[in-house]
Amino acid sequence: MNDRPRPARSRRPDRPPRRPRRDPVRLLAFEALRAVDERDAYANLVLPPLLARARRSEGLDDRDAALATELVYGTLRRQGTYDAVIGACADRPLRGIDPPVLDVLSLGAHQLLGTRIPRHAAVSSTVELARMVLGEGPAKFVNAVLRRISARDLEEWIDHLAPPADRDPEEYLALRHAHPRWVVSALWDALEPGGRRTDREGIEALLIADNERPEVTLVARPGRSEPEELLVGGALPGRWSPHAVRLVEGGDPGALPAVREGRAGVQDEGSQLVAAALVAAPLEGPDTRWLDGCAGPGGKAALLAALAAGRGAGLLAVERRPHRARLVAGVLEGAPGVQLTVAADTTRPAWRPASFDRVLVDVPCTGLGALRRRPEARWRRRPEDLERFAPLQRALLREALWAVRPGGVVAYATCSPHPAETRAVVEDVLAEAGTGPAAAPAAEWIDARPTMPGVPHLGAGPDVQLWPHLHGTDAMYLALLRRADRAL
Ligand SMILES: C[S@@+](CC[C@H](N)C(=O)[O-])C[C@H]1O[C@@H](n2cnc3c(N)ncnc32)[C@H](O)[C@@H]1O
Repeated sequence: MNDRPRPARSRRPDRPPRRPRRDPVRLLAFEALRAVDERDAYANLVLPPLLARARRSEGLDDRDAALATELVYGTLRRQGTYDAVIGACADRPLRGIDPPVLDVLSLGAHQLLGTRIPRHAAVSSTVELARMVLGEGPAKFVNAVLRRISARDLEEWIDHLAPPADRDPEEYLALRHAHPRWVVSALWDALEPGGRRTDREGIEALLIADNERPEVTLVARPGRSEPEELLVGGALPGRWSPHAVRLVEGGDPGALPAVREGRAGVQDEGSQLVAAALVAAPLEGPDTRWLDGCAGPGGKAALLAALAAGRGAGLLAVERRPHRARLVAGVLEGAPGVQLTVAADTTRPAWRPASFDRVLVDVPCTGLGALRRRPEARWRRRPEDLERFAPLQRALLREALWAVRPGGVVAYATCSPHPAETRAVVEDVLAEAGTGPAAAPAAEWIDARPTMPGVPHLGAGPDVQLWPHLHGTDAMYLALLRRADRAL
């Protein structure tokens, strides 16, 4: 404590102009937005170190950190809608606004339209930020635009900017729920195959769910921990997976000994269901050799390894990128049973055909099923990405079918519900199957629904699509295929 008397404060008329007030929360949010914008960084990776630094150097507390997180995630998630509003309020086209100025404007728009921060505080704090990071001239521009934005609330802006819902429902939903139009269209196709557009409530519920931050779900890896061990601090059992625990009241998973020791982990319930479904698929004959052909970073491999150990089976976890293969090896460290991680290309297998009894390929995809987790992802993805992944997805499924023995089971999974990455891949590979060595061996599409007992809304089969708004999971897709029971 400093007990020295302080000089009385006096207001002197000749005081120099006030320097911008330093606001660590908004500065941090701006820094995170710049990193995402400039370096294509992921918000969920950029933010934690920035928060840790600000806690150390600026004394940021939990409330500040929560506000900074909300500002960054909310601004990124609703970027398309805020761009439309800013475009309507600026005296120049959006393309003519410098990216750092646009980031400050988006941050201000989010405070005005997406939070309960009072109007004057949202405007003045953002103008102060602009003064500090951009200078006096841009700060005046920011001030003028934010004042125009503040004339309406979000609902009023949407009514003003969006076409009538019945004239152009996709464009309307895109603006209202802040998704690119092509994503709305793709999700609607996935929800209602066949191009019908009748389930307005369904698509709207899905888009709303995409804008909510998912609760953290843990997996108790069987044989290594029990869900009961994780049921602390108001946590609840999972809805569908017997291994899941939901941290409904938040909390730091890293504080739990089972998570620190790798006996449990953070894993969406949809991912748990997919891994467990492969194991639940009926199989005749030997059942000792399992393959995860797309293992990094290792969430499903860890659950598979635990389930394999319980049955006396072993797991080979394959991941093409070496640094991700190291993550897999780390997750599997200390797991009971037999497992091996290798950095290799599953489309150029080092194993002989028919070496495995069960095979999972959780293929690289657009990630349109995990938009809840990555606020910036929807704006980065392009329809062309679908074409980029298509050959690899088919090659991985083909090789998975070669890798499994006749009568064995392959699980094809994606964290995207887009029909081009899900059913179309399976249909194409099955259509060519059995036609020669470049094609997949003959296989049968088996019903995946019985492998998820108790899970509702599984559709008409044989494949399964999970949904954030129906299941509270990521939109994971699963198809189960059995290699034809004859030697080829
Ligand atoms: C969707 S992720 C898998 C997620 C993982 N199953 C989990 O639950 O943690 C797809 C992974 O496949 C890997 N991959 C892509 N092409 C591959 C290939 N040809 N062979 C092996 N792995 C590949 C990617 O590097 C990526 O790590």
